[in-house]
Amino acid sequence: MDTLKTIEEEIKKCRKCDLWKTKTNYVPGEGNENASIVFIGEAPGKEEDLQGRPFVGNAGKLLNEMINKIGLTRKDVFIGNILKCRPPKNRDPLPEEIEACSPYLLRQLNVIKPDVIVCLGRFSASFIFKHYNLEFSSISAVRGKVFNVECWGKRISIIAIYHPAAILYKPQLREMYERDFDTIKRLIGRRVRNSTLFEYM
Ligand code: URA
Repeated sequence: MDTLKTIEEEIKKCRKCDLWKTKTNYVPGEGNENASIVFIGEAPGKEEDLQGRPFVGNAGKLLNEMINKIGLTRKDVFIGNILKCRPPKNRDPLPEEIEACSPYLLRQLNVIKPDVIVCLGRFSASFIFKHYNLEFSSISAVRGKVFNVECWGKRISIIAIYHPAAILYKPQLREMYERDFDTIKRLIGRRVRNSTLFEYM
């Protein structure tokens, strides 16, 4: 049976696409195996490639700040990416790379079985929405909206927000970003209340 550790070990030997040749380190993702919320980005950048950890550069600093703002730390959540290796010069992921690599992410999700999936940016949103049979036209069309789907015998929530790098690039979007994280906070709060209620049933 998969665990985050066994999946990570497989990822670290992966040669399913050519990105292993140019990467420094694999970036499998990290966090809590029992997390009720998972954040999914696109692919490792320069700093992530050097450290082998997701979201540790400037975008990661903003993501950490927002996670802390909703009362959580990185240890409470799981943070992963669609691609586990950095594309050269941070170019966009290729469809064949997404096809080769995304089964690792889906297996990680199957282990964690989160209540809330947060897609960071358009590549992540496009992949996750398609996977859950949700219509995806553009990130701006779905941004900040909550979609509920049945998975793992329960109802889970999926929300797409802009990639944190986009907010660094356009600080005028920051206020909207904070509102999106307020929505995420409400989603988690509802889950906590529901599971507490459930314990008393
Ligand atoms: N951008 C991403 O999409 N993922 C990372 O891990 C870092 C930057």
